[in-house]
Amino acid sequence: MRTINIGLSEEQRQGVIELLNRDLADAYLLLIKTKKYHWDVVGPQFRSLHELWEEQYQALTENIDSIAERVRALGGYPVGTAEGFLELASIKEHGGDIPMATEMVSRLADDHEQVIRNLREHVDQCSDDFHDEGTADFLTGLMEQHEEMAWMLRSFIEGEDLKADGKLSTGKSKVPVKA
Ligand SMILES: [Fe+2]
Repeated sequence: MRTINIGLSEEQRQGVIELLNRDLADAYLLLIKTKKYHWDVVGPQFRSLHELWEEQYQALTENIDSIAERVRALGGYPVGTAEGFLELASIKEHGGDIPMATEMVSRLADDHEQVIRNLREHVDQCSDDFHDEGTADFLTGLMEQHEEMAWMLRSFIEGEDLKADGKLSTGKSKVPVKA
């Protein structure tokens, strides 16, 4: 079999492939969760969230393909089974419950933030431990995309405290109940 000679040792390539497969698993779970909420969401923000999640799952679908193909470019094989994704993923599924829209947004924001933390660590590992600046750069791009997606989700939750007149609803105007 022809050996790959791109200036990385076998050990370095395998290290990077392992990180990429973990990122692939998380991206896949996030795709499933985002699609499920795109289908399930109800409430006054239905249209905005339904459309936002469609945009996000389309971006995730493209990223998944890029991650898997980068694994191949480094001489590895991407994980491609549901069982394998569940085993490697760091984010968790929520057993098929159907929460309120705000809770959906909050869960997905948490997941994106988890993915951002993982990617930040993987970028450092790729360049410091595995001497692979190409993958470090690739993962940095993914991290920036997740940062933007997380910001869009957080903005929905932060808006929850706003009343229709745009003023913050702090709850302080309520008359205290006497004992
Ligand atoms: Fe759809």
